[in-house]
Amino acid sequence: MEKLFLPVLLGTNRKQRNSIHPAKWLVGEMEKRSEIETRLFDVAEFALPQDDYGQEIKHLFPEWRDAIIRADGLVIVTPEYNHGYPGPLKAVLDLLLREYVHKAVAFVGVSATLWGGTRVIEALVTTVRELGLAVTFSDLNFPKVQNTFDAEGKLLDPAVEKRARGFLDELVWMSRTLKWGRENVPSKFHQGPIV
Ligand SMILES: Cc1cc2nc3c(=O)[nH]c(=O)nc-3n(C[C@H](O)[C@H](O)[C@H](O)COP(=O)(O)O)c2cc1C
Repeated sequence: MEKLFLPVLLGTNRKQRNSIHPAKWLVGEMEKRSEIETRLFDVAEFALPQDDYGQEIKHLFPEWRDAIIRADGLVIVTPEYNHGYPGPLKAVLDLLLREYVHKAVAFVGVSATLWGGTRVIEALVTTVRELGLAVTFSDLNFPKVQNTFDAEGKLLDPAVEKRARGFLDELVWMSRTLKWGRENVPSKFHQGPIV
């Protein structure tokens, strides 16, 4: 079967961020699977201007745009900041619109507490729905992330591996099904080039 392109977006630019460990670890797990091609995008590497916003500046980020046009789905790795999402993550997501339509999105929630980012994921669902993305129903949560990885990013809790497999299985199913739909079921969103 054709490979699915499923980029991963790390949603915080905080210097001491622990979320980088689950993001990098998950990319490694995805790279082990023959049906997935992936690439890590990091909001810290987007030079977002202070004085402009949204689709008008998407031309400043051609690699991101090309990746989302080619993508079959997206993984968003996000920490929970005061029960919400980091501002830079929202700013990066808001760069594009039609590029996302009828593609799958899966969430990885990260927190230092017991809840593993469940509240930030719920907060993001309404946003990604407006972007035209279709949300999977298997999240991957990393509660107490500081105890789940060591300082070098080595996974300390092997139970995560099974949960990640189920999370990726669901994302692959959704992504493949939507890919078939985009290619075979007529929709005004899939006619002509995305400008
Ligand atoms: C501004 C800010 C707000 C935070 N708010 C929450 C929160 O609402 N719930 C929570 O579980 N953890 C919260 N945390 C702690 C994070 O869960 C913790 O930093 C964890 O390591 C994931 O975020 P990181 O990738 O920035 O490290 C907050 C951290 C910051 C910096």
